[in-house]
Amino acid sequence: MIGLAVVVAAATLAAGVLVALALRLLPSVRLQLAGLALLAVTLPLAAVFLSGWAMFHMGDDVKILAVAAGSASVAVAASLLVAQTIAQRIGRLGKASKDLAAGNLDVRAEEAGPRELRDLARSFNAMAAELQRLFDARRELVTWASHDLRTPIASIQAMLEAVEDGLASAEQYLPELQQQVRTLALRVDDLFELSRIDAGALTLELREAELGGLVDACVRSLAAEAASRGVRLEARTTAARVRCEPDKIERVVLNLVTNALRHTPSDGAVAVVVSTTGPEVEVSVEDTGEGLEPGAEQTMFDRFWRGDRARSSDGAGLGLAIARGLVEAHGGRIWAERRREGGAKVSFTLPAL
Ligand SMILES: Nc1ncnc2c1ncn2[C@@H]1O[C@H](COP(=O)(O)OP(=O)(O)OP(=O)(O)O)[C@@H](O)[C@H]1O
Ligand SMILES: [Mg+2]
Repeated sequence: MIGLAVVVAAATLAAGVLVALALRLLPSVRLQLAGLALLAVTLPLAAVFLSGWAMFHMGDDVKILAVAAGSASVAVAASLLVAQTIAQRIGRLGKASKDLAAGNLDVRAEEAGPRELRDLARSFNAMAAELQRLFDARRELVTWASHDLRTPIASIQAMLEAVEDGLASAEQYLPELQQQVRTLALRVDDLFELSRIDAGALTLELREAELGGLVDACVRSLAAEAASRGVRLEARTTAARVRCEPDKIERVVLNLVTNALRHTPSDGAVAVVVSTTGPEVEVSVEDTGEGLEPGAEQTMFDRFWRGDRARSSDGAGLGLAIARGLVEAHGGRIWAERRREGGAKVSFTLPAL
């Protein structure tokens, strides 16, 4: 009797493993699920039926067979129903990904159903959102390049043609040509810096530096521009040692002060303040200018963003995006706020030594 039980158990196990392996070859999830349900119901029933028949030579096998077949059919029908719902959801996900591949970047999958499918839909939606962000960035770049790079190129071209046609002398246009080439070079440099920040390829050569002295030097280098605009520019610094790449931090400070000068009318004032607060050193650039446009506190750090008032100005809308990338790469923070007295205040921090 024990021998028979061992044979039945071994046969059931072998049949189960073989059929389960074979089920994996079926072409759809729906068929695999149905097959699995059939196997899960019929195998134990067959084992019980076989043992019962062998042990008791029972004569009621037809009834037992009917009950077994009935319950197996119910299980198969139920699993077909479940498989149908799962297949429908997978089908909808498949359609969404086909739409995305066809260029409809607004398409999103419904995040519903069993956990695995919900996770899959969520990952799909995250991927679609990221793709959309990348496409938007590309569109923005093309719009920006077609204006901000083509304008100086067109102006250089026009001046060169005028010189070529003898309408003007080369000397007459030389300073303006040099200025336009400088503008172009600066914009291309900015684009490279930003793409390095985006790609995480920014390698900082950190060394110990005295931030107060660095800020003083930046302010001195912009004194002439401030004077020509009739804006009072002052630095209120204290000695503060930080670990940074001085060229990069200089670039951040120069952009903040240039912005403040650009947006402050004559007779106004710009102050650059360095202070140490706990584990951080803070640099703030405050101006008495026109102040920030509504909602600009966040968006002004986006690439290519220029306020309506600044659209026609010289800026390319890259300075603050680069500044944020550089400050964050140093482990600091950067933010903007309105001053109660009017004007703007843009500050950043660096970890103190
Ligand atoms: N101090 C400020 N006061 C008012 N608005 C400001 C100030 N600083 C920046 N902004 C606004 O934020 C925008 C983005 O500044 P950002 O430095 O990124 O670009 P930009 O100065 O226009 O060009 P770029 O720095 O590339 O030459 C500016 O165009 C301006 O509208
Ligand atoms: Mg700027």
